[in-house]
Amino acid sequence: MSIYYQDDLVTLHHGDCRDVLGGVRADVCVTDPPYGETSISWDVWPVGWVEATTLALPDATSMWCFGSMRMFLERSGDFAGWRLSQDVVWRKPRARSTATDRFARIHEHALHWYRGPWGEVYHQAQRVPYYGKRAHVPAKAIKGSPGELRPMASTIEYSDDGTRLTPSILEGTAGDPRTVLHPTQKPLAVLAPLIEYACPPGGIVLDPFAGSGSTLDAARSFGRRAVGIEADERYCEIAAKRLSQDTLFGGAA
Ligand SMILES: C[S@@+](CC[C@H](N)C(=O)[O-])C[C@H]1O[C@@H](n2cnc3c(N)ncnc32)[C@H](O)[C@@H]1O
Repeated sequence: MSIYYQDDLVTLHHGDCRDVLGGVRADVCVTDPPYGETSISWDVWPVGWVEATTLALPDATSMWCFGSMRMFLERSGDFAGWRLSQDVVWRKPRARSTATDRFARIHEHALHWYRGPWGEVYHQAQRVPYYGKRAHVPAKAIKGSPGELRPMASTIEYSDDGTRLTPSILEGTAGDPRTVLHPTQKPLAVLAPLIEYACPPGGIVLDPFAGSGSTLDAARSFGRRAVGIEADERYCEIAAKRLSQDTLFGGAA
């Protein structure tokens, strides 16, 4: 097994994830596999990767996996044994479509899969600041005589803390398309809430398709440990360089 880069929180292996995963243990997977939809040389679905990843994780755990609707439908059998909890959409403000015979595709999906009883799977709903009008929940009222409202015996206690659940459509860009580190680089701002949702503080995030190391970088920013695997040595080098610089959250989001 070839460790290409290591620091206090991150380990990056160079190799085919299906060969390396046997020696890896993690708490949760956050990954972005090849969708198998383009002519890019590495964009080939690695048959068996979900199974190999499953063996590296505990019985009750979860996995965020980026992909397209077509990819998930075609590969649904690979996710046997996993249950789907929800999907999040990454809206790509800078996306450019190459196909001219369909809607301009400016989004991708991230699906959240889990195994084991939901109550045992770590999941921490994320919240964002809310700057709109504060919610006001009046005491429930019942109508007495016409025009008269009386409070009911029991009233609802509700305190608006100025936050709301993070919406399921996330926006973010990995940067200028001419200078991104990887052609399918995922933004830290999109990865961050997924990681915080699924991985407990101090837990280990696994990304078997590390690319330029975005998941590893985002996980480290939040004090999570991370293990990545990347088959292409050019991207190992790019990821190692990125991780050895102090690119904590905000650096490339
Ligand atoms: C979609 S890209 C990931 C990009 C990454 N999310 C980022 O932000 O940079 C998928 C990566 O998986 C790598 N890859 C493809 N097959 C692999 C395999 N069998 N094992 C490990 N890595 C593989 C490719 O070289 C590519 O860099």
